[in-house]
Amino acid sequence: MAELLINDMKMEGHINPELQGQFSEHLGRGIYEGIFVKEDSGIPNVNGMRQDVVNALKKIHVPVLRWPGGCFADEYHWMDGIGPRDQRKKMVNTNWGGVIEDNSFGTHEYFELLSQLGCKSYINGNVGSGTVREMSEWMEYMMFGGKSPMADLRRANGHDAPWHVDWFGVGNENWGCGGNMRPAYYADLYRRYQSFLRQYDPEHPVKKVACGPNSGDQNWTRKVLDACCEGVAPEQHGLMDGLSLHYYTVPTGVWSHKGSSLDFSEEEWYQTFRQTLVMEDLIRAHSAIMDQYDPEKQIGMVVDEWGTWYDVEPGTNPGFLYQQNTTRDAIVAGINLNIFNKHCDRVKMTCIAQTINVLQSMILTEGEKMTLTPTYHVFDLYHHHQDAELLESTLTGDEMTGTKGEVPVEIPALSESVSEKDGVITVTMTNADLAKAYPVNIRFASARPSKVTGRIVTGAMNAHNTVDQTDNVKAEDFTEARITGDGVAFEIPPRSVVLLQFC
Ligand code: AHR
Repeated sequence: MAELLINDMKMEGHINPELQGQFSEHLGRGIYEGIFVKEDSGIPNVNGMRQDVVNALKKIHVPVLRWPGGCFADEYHWMDGIGPRDQRKKMVNTNWGGVIEDNSFGTHEYFELLSQLGCKSYINGNVGSGTVREMSEWMEYMMFGGKSPMADLRRANGHDAPWHVDWFGVGNENWGCGGNMRPAYYADLYRRYQSFLRQYDPEHPVKKVACGPNSGDQNWTRKVLDACCEGVAPEQHGLMDGLSLHYYTVPTGVWSHKGSSLDFSEEEWYQTFRQTLVMEDLIRAHSAIMDQYDPEKQIGMVVDEWGTWYDVEPGTNPGFLYQQNTTRDAIVAGINLNIFNKHCDRVKMTCIAQTINVLQSMILTEGEKMTLTPTYHVFDLYHHHQDAELLESTLTGDEMTGTKGEVPVEIPALSESVSEKDGVITVTMTNADLAKAYPVNIRFASARPSKVTGRIVTGAMNAHNTVDQTDNVKAEDFTEARITGDGVAFEIPPRSVVLLQFC
């Protein structure tokens, strides 16, 4: 029997909508085919954006979309992606499959997509192979409303009004694909590049994100913060608004054989969640370092790449990172989103990798057909947390679960987070146990809800959707929760993610 105590008298921080952000890179079929099909493809679209995908993404309230990479960002030269499409310079996408990138999706197309989705912008600039001038002129092109060479070029290319850049990443994985730099060297580059990212709209300053660590690399975090804060006034918080963190769930923990998305054992099931729970350790460890340099928590932790990473589907291009998505992925998403909520005092944005057809996607497409993944349905449950206040919650009596093979993989069966918005209390909970349902008693410090509603995503261990069988895993009504004398009681089924709302 688990007990969930909700202290509705204690708010612990604001859950930025951006905690449920997305990431789309020029990688495989993520952008091309996944969302941008061009006007004459025969697939229903508006200005080239396929409408089945846009409509589905609107339903989960995508708050922000990171683009154009990823590793691709540090090879991307934005000027190649503007002007008449048939005259744009082509390039080899050396990071992802060596295919020809025709640059038909560029800055104008990105902002067109954002306007259709109604979400914020997060652009990742090129430090690895780009210049300060290039990055600075991109900002002028996008954001300057007056007369200037770049603003006039934007107008000549058909967009009169400036766009707004909400977040700007100064390089990506500069410890790896973004230049193999050492932290002090990157930090100096960060200081220099960010100096020329002008604030053209002082009312809505662009938030600058520095490249943060690769999973557990605390040395990178410490050295970058040390060098960026040196000689800088505390109120300038290291000249940054965010520091990124990348961490992927690789079930085996071994990159050379990550495991299959569909064909996995019970042990791999639990191993996957054990790897997922590392996210909380990482957030704690890097937060502790950030606290030393930024006790006021002005620098947001930006987990702008997370999600499952398996071996690619057999027969697909290894450079395209295409993988299926099962009930296991739904629970991984639920656990991670609960962790992010619980650390919303420091975590200000996250972007799951990646929205369509790449890694842990929301949507998979095949030609004109598409399907929503189990992960999509979890985002559909969790969007109620967006812009809500995190409530203190304590889960006790939870049991450890997992198989005991050669490697013990015991993990807590349940995870949870709780928020309140407009008088409605939202609880999201996951149960990673393969076989066991857990009775849960919810008690409130002061609230006495009179009504409870619920939704659930559940399925067999490797249940998944395809473009021909789209409803194997979906969000359904969950009516098991009952108001009791002093709270709410229900049983959380095995292999499930549950949403409960009280008023
Ligand atoms: O999301 C795929 C890749 O993973 C990104 O391009 C890179 O930043 C990371 O290594």
